[in-house]
Amino acid sequence: MASYLIRHSPRLSGEVEVSTAKNAVLPILAAGLLSEDPLIIRQVPRITDVDTLLGILRDCGAQVQRNGVDVSVCAMQPQSPNHEENMRRLRASILILGPILARTGSACVGLPGGCAIGQRPIDLHLRGLQALGAQVHAVGGLRQLSGRLTGQRVYLDLPSVGATENLMMAATLAQGVTTIENAAKEPEIVDLANCLNLMGAKISGAGTGTICVCGVERLHGAVYHPIPDRVEAGTLLCAAAVTEGSVLVRGACAEHLRSLLFKLQETGVGIRETPGGIRLSGSAVAPFEVRTLAYPGFPTDMQAPMTVVALKCRGRSMLSETVFENRFMHVTELLHLGARIRVENNVALVDGGVPLEGGMVKSTDLRAGAALMLAGLMAEGETILQDPSGHIERGYQDLPEKLRSLGADVEKIEDRV
Ligand code: UD1
Repeated sequence: MASYLIRHSPRLSGEVEVSTAKNAVLPILAAGLLSEDPLIIRQVPRITDVDTLLGILRDCGAQVQRNGVDVSVCAMQPQSPNHEENMRRLRASILILGPILARTGSACVGLPGGCAIGQRPIDLHLRGLQALGAQVHAVGGLRQLSGRLTGQRVYLDLPSVGATENLMMAATLAQGVTTIENAAKEPEIVDLANCLNLMGAKISGAGTGTICVCGVERLHGAVYHPIPDRVEAGTLLCAAAVTEGSVLVRGACAEHLRSLLFKLQETGVGIRETPGGIRLSGSAVAPFEVRTLAYPGFPTDMQAPMTVVALKCRGRSMLSETVFENRFMHVTELLHLGARIRVENNVALVDGGVPLEGGMVKSTDLRAGAALMLAGLMAEGETILQDPSGHIERGYQDLPEKLRSLGADVEKIEDRV
């Protein structure tokens, strides 16, 4: 079982490089199933979610190679995965559905798993593909889809990131024009569209609420370098804010982090955008109110780290979670460190400015795990963070090492607890 020993670490300082975005890389890897030529993806992070998806892609008949930091995916004849249980290991596994269906006219997949932060249904993915002409059958835990896809106008009830990605990929090879209305606008959507267009797709409007995809006969290979990880960058900035430090996150893209940067500035820290990255200096002192929303609203993935920032601010902060129903599990853990937080429905009321005491906490999901690591840096004495499911390594490359390079006292102590 992975655990981390974290000691009080005031004033992180220095520079740290952000990795390539997990949430951009995963859909782009799945896009490799759309072409029989190799898609080469640069600077793929070494995280277990990527390893799991690469395993699923192999199971789908793709040739997958890791060459140092690059990964190539080549799918001569994609097929449905044989081992549907692997799909339960990550949510993004559902992104193989659109590409396999579009390439072969049929697909059979298991239901995806991932962090238990809410129900996370796939109805919008299925309804969207149905609108493009697929027939959908439920066979136990499997979903079987078949049919040649034809361009249509599809409206998403919610601007789901995954559903937008799945439909956009499927529509690249559909006959005719597909319009996705109420599409997600996240930077990872734009990145996927850029990669698909490089492969020969005809997509316009990515980054707006209406995406238009003009189907083509086939996609070809490409070499693509995805965007930097805005959630990792934001988490490292929050680490600086809670330790009263001064940290430059090299490679971070301020445009992708606008809502977080405004909120952090409201707490009193200094933010400086430079061509090389984003620097945060000073301490978070003023309480704030924030509501998670689809992009360009405040990202739900930054809610847990921002809860830790709220613990630093003097007075009551209010964090409303509107994207996922069950995303306050880190709060129960933070209470073990002496935090004063009350959750009422989808709102966390945080009374900050009270010192935290080191203790034993457990990582309940990916973003909660990273947030608890930050809380450990802030807390007096020693904190043991248990991560029995390996959440942190699922989504962050070398997070303890990166924090250590800034002066944090954090180490992985496998199997010691
Ligand atoms: C992606 C991100 C995740 C982030 C989330 C929201 C990846 C790999 N993961 O997840 O880190 O937290 O966006 O920014 O990119 N929903 C439905 N039906 C569906 C699909 C979604 O009701 O068919 C609901 C979900 O339960 C949730 C909301 O829509 O309440 C948003 O989910 P969605 O945008 O789809 O998130 P993911 O793509 O799973």
